[in-house]
Amino acid sequence: MFIAMNRFKIVKGMEEDFIEIWKRRESYLEGVPGFREFHLLQGQSYDDYTLFASHSVWDSPQVFEDWTRSEAFRLAHARAGSAKNVYMGPPNLELFEAVI
Ligand code: HEM
Repeated sequence: MFIAMNRFKIVKGMEEDFIEIWKRRESYLEGVPGFREFHLLQGQSYDDYTLFASHSVWDSPQVFEDWTRSEAFRLAHARAGSAKNVYMGPPNLELFEAVI
């Protein structure tokens, strides 16, 4: 099992706007070979931002890499980052391989 998490720092007060972007998105994950689950996670709030993570679960690093090079990835990100007022900078990608 392989997990890809992208951490987003969202400007305080813009949390609902960010959640709406994800709720309204056109998802292309269903049917992607090796894709298992997706969650949007809301974390702690700090002085000037709230932490979120997009959390995706895959069968293996290979199927995840294949998806990042796919048309499904390109389509899902065609508008990503366009609502510049909600983000405090670019997201932070973290990749994990399950060892147990
Ligand atoms: C390899 C790096 C990345 C991974 C693993 C990743 C992961 C994901 C996943 C799993 C989805 C849902 C796709 C779907 O439902 O079909 C998604 C969509 C999205 N991603 Fe990424 N992403 C990456 C890069 C980025 C970057 C650089 C941004 C910049 C802001 C970003 C922002 C977004 C947003 C905002 C959406 C929702 C799409 C929309 O606006 O409708 N992602 N991402």
